[in-house]
Amino acid sequence: MSKLLRIGVLASGGGTNLQAIIDRCMDGSLAAEIAVVITNNPGAGALDRARSAGVPTLCINHRDFSQRHEFDGAVVKALQDAGVELVVLAGFMRIITQTFIDAFPERIINIHPALLPAFPGLHVQQQALDYGARFSGCTVHLVDGGVDTGPIIMQAVVPILADDDADTLAARILEQEHRIYPRAIQLIAEGRVHINGRQVKIDPDGVVETTALVNPAIAD
Ligand code: GRF
Repeated sequence: MSKLLRIGVLASGGGTNLQAIIDRCMDGSLAAEIAVVITNNPGAGALDRARSAGVPTLCINHRDFSQRHEFDGAVVKALQDAGVELVVLAGFMRIITQTFIDAFPERIINIHPALLPAFPGLHVQQQALDYGARFSGCTVHLVDGGVDTGPIIMQAVVPILADDDADTLAARILEQEHRIYPRAIQLIAEGRVHINGRQVKIDPDGVVETTALVNPAIAD
């Protein structure tokens, strides 16, 4: 078996994306090993999921630090100590500093529950509904110094339906997050993702997406 990519997952909440990554590591479709799961939130459900899977965990509570960069320094050290090669933010509710980004150049990714560059930030399912968008989705992107601004690696699109509220839309998006996040990590593990400024080139595997989506659908 070829070498597994050592990833560190940072999560603050329930950890369903972490679970999807754990599941794909277990079934062999993701050639990665979760070296450590770090949370800033002692009550994060992600901790239980990691422990159940036998994955090492660490809680670094941001409230124990007076400065943002000190917190980030502690997280970076923990990731380096664990030999992490790729940092995976999965619902990590802290903005990370340049020091963190510099420690893992082009090696930090995030998943965002909207089709970037539309609707960065928080409460984005509600934002998409309020705007009246016909589609939303999710985006895996590299983390740079901005909020949800880094180069885009992978996206999935979902329709917004007439009776959606933020919860139903979030659930439809989350289902796709669980598909694309492990897949994006696998592409990185295979060395197929090449960053050139804002452009991300992915070595093809013969499958090309050409389907156009229309909402409301055209019946004929
Ligand atoms: C997901 O919607 C993700 O896109 C966003 O935070 C949420 C985390 O959910 N960044 P979970 O903790 O993985 O269930």
